[in-house]
Amino acid sequence: MTREKLRIGMFGYGCVGQGLHDVLNSSKGFRAEIVRICVKDRSKARRIPMEYFTYDKDDILNDSSINLVVELIDDADAAFDIVKTAMKNGKNVVTANKVMVAKHFRELVDMQEKYGVSLLYEASAGASIPIIRNLEEYYDNELLYSLRGILNGTTNYVLTLMHNQGVDYNIALNEAREKGFAESDPTLDVEGWDAKYKLCIITGHAYGLFLEPEEVFHYGINTISKFDIQYAKEKSFKIKLVPYVGKTNENTITSFVLPRFISSDKYLYNVDNEYNGVITEAAFADKQFFSGKGAGGHATGSAVLSDISANSYGYKYEYKKYQQGSVSNYTRDYKIELYLRYKNEKDKELFGFEEVSEYFSGKLYKYVIGIVNLKRLYELREHLRRMDVFIVNTGRKGIN
Ligand code: HSE
Repeated sequence: MTREKLRIGMFGYGCVGQGLHDVLNSSKGFRAEIVRICVKDRSKARRIPMEYFTYDKDDILNDSSINLVVELIDDADAAFDIVKTAMKNGKNVVTANKVMVAKHFRELVDMQEKYGVSLLYEASAGASIPIIRNLEEYYDNELLYSLRGILNGTTNYVLTLMHNQGVDYNIALNEAREKGFAESDPTLDVEGWDAKYKLCIITGHAYGLFLEPEEVFHYGINTISKFDIQYAKEKSFKIKLVPYVGKTNENTITSFVLPRFISSDKYLYNVDNEYNGVITEAAFADKQFFSGKGAGGHATGSAVLSDISANSYGYKYEYKKYQQGSVSNYTRDYKIELYLRYKNEKDKELFGFEEVSEYFSGKLYKYVIGIVNLKRLYELREHLRRMDVFIVNTGRKGIN
């Protein structure tokens, strides 16, 4: 197949934009050129000549010589506007914007069909791990039981520093921000939103359901305390933030984002710092494990480059699982074994624990381990944000 020479119009020149620029410059012989970059801030000093830059999005969107738009800005609403217009104007698009893709997933899928263009977004989930294309191409006919992993580099970095070096939560988070791993608003990382958006994107390709992110329960690590780390260490576990999606029966799936205890015999145990890891469990391929850098300019830039390259061959997602339509239901009626660290008994009562296997009551904190229904957690989600508690999926009992 002949490769089309790509003339790229890029939006954004932050951490990922600059990373992509470096990666592209090192890929000699690749027939793609960034011809224009649209940025917002006129006062910022730039590393490359100013003639590349424009402040007017139409300089890219209305330039018929530009055949690929690469969207790498922070603002999901502005990004959606850009991507929609680019697609309407017949341009293919590559984006790394997980918030935008997750929030407008169905519409973006329909628009690709309507305008006969391609939208690729490998960098939006798991950064350098090529999980979306694998789900599309390798697992297209596989009976996928479940997928779980670490999809947020910032929280993994923070948890690694807290666990391995006893670093304070805020110091670790600041370091993750300085290294360019965190979102501009790091609550997206630490409260679990970012992992949830990525999980929703992955779910679209793994099972063909385009879930509204609001439908999916998520919980982050922002209320973790030294007691939780201490508990995990005593039991030889690490705590990781682990999104999960899996089948509950032939045509139904469930999904959630929760911190999880990981024992040392598990793949995810050694996935540290900003690395991400994904485990798939399928009928024939059995268990598979993918790992790679999940945040940072160059790692994310490498996934964007791979999409640009795929684009030059005319690659499009076919949404095979969606076309097959074998999964049609989503449920939150699902039992999870949960560790709850808490102070007030009345907080504990809200969870409706069904079976309790461990209980501890001390002066400074208490904890309980038992079975909780995901439905209940979802109902509690607003309340949970204000509670002085921390919850962790034990991942035990083969429940998930
Ligand atoms: N803030 C994100 C993370 C960046 O930490 O994983 C990559 O999506």
